[in-house]
Amino acid sequence: MAETVFPQGFLWGSATSSHQVEGNNTNNDWWAWEHAGRVKEPSGLACDQYRRFREDFDLAKSLHHNAHRFSIEWSRIEPREGEFDEVAIAHYREVIAALRERGLEPLVTLHHYTNPLWLSNQGGWTNPKVVEAFARFTQRVVEALGDQVQYWLTINEPMVYAVMHYLDGVGPPGERNNVRLFVRVVEHLLRAHALSSQVIHHVAKARGWDVRVSLANHAQPFPPCRPWWPIDRVAAGFAEHVYNQRFLKALVEGEWKFPGFPRVRIPEARGSLDFIGMNYYGRVFLRSSLFGSPWWGSRCSTRHHKNVTERNFLEWDVYPSGIRQILRWSVPYRLPVLITENGICTTDDAQRTRFILNHLRWVGRAIQEGAPVMGYLYWSLLDNFEWSYGYTPRFGLIEVDYSTQARRVRESGRRFAEVCRTNRLPEQT
Ligand code: GAL
Repeated sequence: MAETVFPQGFLWGSATSSHQVEGNNTNNDWWAWEHAGRVKEPSGLACDQYRRFREDFDLAKSLHHNAHRFSIEWSRIEPREGEFDEVAIAHYREVIAALRERGLEPLVTLHHYTNPLWLSNQGGWTNPKVVEAFARFTQRVVEALGDQVQYWLTINEPMVYAVMHYLDGVGPPGERNNVRLFVRVVEHLLRAHALSSQVIHHVAKARGWDVRVSLANHAQPFPPCRPWWPIDRVAAGFAEHVYNQRFLKALVEGEWKFPGFPRVRIPEARGSLDFIGMNYYGRVFLRSSLFGSPWWGSRCSTRHHKNVTERNFLEWDVYPSGIRQILRWSVPYRLPVLITENGICTTDDAQRTRFILNHLRWVGRAIQEGAPVMGYLYWSLLDNFEWSYGYTPRFGLIEVDYSTQARRVRESGRRFAEVCRTNRLPEQT
């Protein structure tokens, strides 16, 4: 492929989330889950970024990033229902100031999987109260930080959140295949995003601030496990439609319908996206099944699948051209698209370099074909707590030695830095 030149003003950087990097988030449901022995190892001090953010942002700046996505920890800001912690709010003001001082555009996520304990004790996202609670939290945060933030992401990967916690049971509250709760949680996530987006726009308008709101939508192609078997093709097509498209469509059309459940009208969702945030990791192969997740069939292992030519450390599929596919899906929405996450865990850093450059080549191709891509954020700036897998998977552009908290920039981090600096990807040799 020829040299790729990215659009002017392209956002280049990386993404993290509070619970995965900050350390000592003792007041949320994930911490409780970890300490109930439900994960390989608890998050503990994580990357100690609550204290070391300046050092980490110095590194991001040295790697020529011009943007950084991070999340605000709800359980720190609102430790008890309705009580806001001014010290925690001041902390995040310092975080944002530190980013701005280094020329890094802050992109702020308001919810990245974790819930304050008081909320999870009331049923978390299954309780309709969560919608108002999230709006109140949003309002407090935006009033306090909004003069310094243009880009807001309300919720990280709503579909993954619902699948992971209510179908797969690998995060709190650990529900398995509970389709009834799953559907309810998705509805509340949609409503919460819509109301939160309204609150952000409302606060910003009253104060004359310019804001752009979205969420980070996880998208993945779903090829059938056995392409010759029509029922696998149906299961895969169904998942692709519901998982990748219906959630976004619901936000644009103001209506959500899950097969077998009543239609839900959410008119306030219309206009809640100013751009589309997309997280992309790879494909998931599906087979029809009576025993897997009941609504779309079950995943088949990528370990032996003959169409999988490359895998990451966790044996997930690596499929660079898929990023072009998901960017194509977003074209009909006529909104700018930001890659809010794309990354690989690997012990082979050369594989990470290839992963980044190959994905960027396909992003470049999608741009040439008309996809309005505004930026690319690699997951993640540094190795961090990978939820139920603990600390073994290494996603970082920067290596973390957890025994000393020392950071070391990887060669892949430097190769990515060259792209960020020049805003171009040299011709493939
Ligand atoms: C995303 C998630 C991140 C991170 C990443 C790597 O789905 O938003 O928190 O864990 O996957 O698995």
